[in-house]
Amino acid sequence: MWKGIIEEYKKFLSVTDKTPIITLQEGGTPLVHAKSISKIIGNRISVYLKCEGLNPTGSFKDRGMTLAVSKAIEEGSSVIMCASTGNTSASASAYAARAGIKCVVLIPKDSVALGKLAQALMHNAKVLAIDGNFDLCLDIVKTITSKYPITLVNSMNPYRLQGQKTGAFEVCEQLGSAPDYHIIPVGNAGNITAYWMGYKEYHKMGKIDRLPVMIGFQAEGSAPIVRGYTIKEPKTIATAIKIGNPTNWKQALRVKDESSGIISMVSDQQIIDAYRMLADREGVFAEPASAASIAGLMLLSNKGYFKENSKIVCILTGNGLKDPQCAINVIKEPTILPPVLDKITEAMGL
Ligand code: F0G
Repeated sequence: MWKGIIEEYKKFLSVTDKTPIITLQEGGTPLVHAKSISKIIGNRISVYLKCEGLNPTGSFKDRGMTLAVSKAIEEGSSVIMCASTGNTSASASAYAARAGIKCVVLIPKDSVALGKLAQALMHNAKVLAIDGNFDLCLDIVKTITSKYPITLVNSMNPYRLQGQKTGAFEVCEQLGSAPDYHIIPVGNAGNITAYWMGYKEYHKMGKIDRLPVMIGFQAEGSAPIVRGYTIKEPKTIATAIKIGNPTNWKQALRVKDESSGIISMVSDQQIIDAYRMLADREGVFAEPASAASIAGLMLLSNKGYFKENSKIVCILTGNGLKDPQCAINVIKEPTILPPVLDKITEAMGL
């Protein structure tokens, strides 16, 4: 039985026999071959989707949160706090509930998808919606956690990225090698940093014989790393990555340089097209921010960027059910019919 990332990868993580393991059996997510998308791309390229939306709270954040909360408990903390565009808050509140400690989350008002807000509230976190953006929420959380005995569980908490690096271990095991290219959405740039850390560790140990090219995509209206300056009022339909001043900005640039990779951006329209294509052609419902990796894949493929025969892994960071409103906004609402057989068969085209 899969026991969660701490038990599975204990020797790669800073835990001891004394660390209480707070887990929801996160990790072990499927790596699905994207048959239709691979066919569209051609050139005998295989595209794989790492479905992180199948984690216990529906996003990759659970990998880092299990470790951050376990270490917080080990260190005697009884309150954790984070700023969030939604998924971190959902994950933090679930693991805090599991551990029996308090959780406080600061979210930018009107910018958090409904499913994520519902999760944090159901897990009984103290949810404070702030009249400001994510970057401001994070500044406030940093100030409060530096003054009070409260554990910060945003990605500057080192255990978060340590836990998240296990995604790279799984990809290598599932694929039997490192991919040639690794494509990932970028917000605070924690996940791209964590994956690179994981690949490098496996490479150093001789478990893989090469490293992937790391490719990160931001949303056009929230692309500080691409543009080279902070964005005061970030905008994008992909609210999870609506961030103007990423915490791991420097680390992301280092990942790009070390891996000869790319950090680029996609428009909201490209994100929506990819979001629909994933659901329609692959049967995979991921949230809009996750679709940024597929939008980026299509963009680079159209430019002939990828080598023939290569293996590409796209990280789908969160579940589509997190943001039902976005789906409803981009699809046609169903037609309402009377309960009359003829009308229904006619609508079915029979
Ligand atoms: N995809 C999803 C679904 C996310 O929720 C996030 C970040 C990212 C991608 C970007 O990952 O920040 O490591 O580069 N969400 C954070 C949150 C900011 O508060 O839930 P990153």
